[in-house]
Amino acid sequence: MNWRITPAGPLHGRIEVPGDKSITHRAYIFGAVGEGPTVVTGPLRAEDTDNTLRAVVHLGVQVEDLGEKVIINGTGPSGLREPGDVLDLGNSGTAVRLLAGLLAGCPFMSILTGDASLRRRPMARIADPLRSMGALVDGRENGNLLPLTIRGGGLTGIEYHSSVASAQVKSCVLLAGLQASGRTVFREPSLSRDHTERILRRMGVRLVEGGEGLSLEGGQVPRGCGIDVPGDISSAAFFMVAASTVRESDVAIGNVGVNPTRTGIVRLLESMAADIEVRERTDDHEPVADIRVRGSRALQGIEVPPEWIPSIIDELPLAAVAAAAAEGTTVIRGAAELRVKESDRIRTTVQMLRGAGITIEELDDGFIVHGGARVRAACFDSGGDHRIAMASAILSLMAGSPSEVTDTSCVSTSFREFPETLNALAPGSVTEHS
Ligand code: S3P
Repeated sequence: MNWRITPAGPLHGRIEVPGDKSITHRAYIFGAVGEGPTVVTGPLRAEDTDNTLRAVVHLGVQVEDLGEKVIINGTGPSGLREPGDVLDLGNSGTAVRLLAGLLAGCPFMSILTGDASLRRRPMARIADPLRSMGALVDGRENGNLLPLTIRGGGLTGIEYHSSVASAQVKSCVLLAGLQASGRTVFREPSLSRDHTERILRRMGVRLVEGGEGLSLEGGQVPRGCGIDVPGDISSAAFFMVAASTVRESDVAIGNVGVNPTRTGIVRLLESMAADIEVRERTDDHEPVADIRVRGSRALQGIEVPPEWIPSIIDELPLAAVAAAAAEGTTVIRGAAELRVKESDRIRTTVQMLRGAGITIEELDDGFIVHGGARVRAACFDSGGDHRIAMASAILSLMAGSPSEVTDTSCVSTSFREFPETLNALAPGSVTEHS
């Protein structure tokens, strides 16, 4: 599938975006290891999260899929069964790394794999701590690459200092720690998204946060609970940037998750002088807000503080799009993790901007964008990366004539409704063709 993107003028209207991907994965996986029903309302219905749901079913968990609501009837870790086949998690790093933590505690063998992109992504970051806890983990390149085989059970808690700020590594170690004997301590260089900590507490798990890091005692069984999934800020971000860069736009996005470990894109746009208003509605287990963005001001380039990076990691290709529209230079450093996402997102972001005639310098751990030049219509290739496909579409809205984005079927991993949503705000912006 390909898109033709026609710059159709200002974006106007009110939208909602699909459920948060990170929270949906966790609701399914923690629901599976919990005891009693976990009722997930408004989950993301996309390939990544559907793969997690399917994996949970293959582990013997009884699931009621009512569409808008999914009920995971967990029976505790001892209720999980050896899967009859390889678990294929498609494109999802979160699914594979969290499930590895879950399966490391289970006294049977499982095999995890994924698509070509996921099979290139590093797994030593989870295989190492899981082995230290006593799981037998193997895979290509000594367990760094999928497929991974895991023979779990008999784990002992560890103290683990991760060298990367990664919520996937943190969640993996804590999931294994729940099933281990003794205490597990996890420390990371800076705080990554904290949805796992919030969900564990909601499910009644005692999790201590102190100078030594996060710790929990093994043997605690999470209690099933209700989880309302807010809209995904990583999906809302495309329209926030579009409204900030296309003059005279006025876009309201309702029911967006604004967990402070995820709102780097809001901080970035505010610092670039965008006209953005965040009105908090509720803060049950996850804060939720309505966001309004108007295209009333010229954006200014900024130097992004490296400590913001974990809270904006998935939005950095889009940050480059905002930077292309801004006056002056925008510097992003400290983001080497981008090299091991669904694509090498430093490389693919640089290609995307250069394709549109924007000057961008590639760094080992980020990029420097020289903004303010005219955006040229172009043919952008997603390279199979959903966020590059959608960021290219937003960049195309700033050009003077139509562009093409090729290989867009990858968008169904996270946001199938993206073309309709963009067309609702700016009719005629996207047409799909094969
Ligand atoms: C995620 C964590 C981040 C993020 C990914 C989702 C999660 O990855 O990039 O899209 O749900 O835990 P890392 O944990 O590798 O930083």
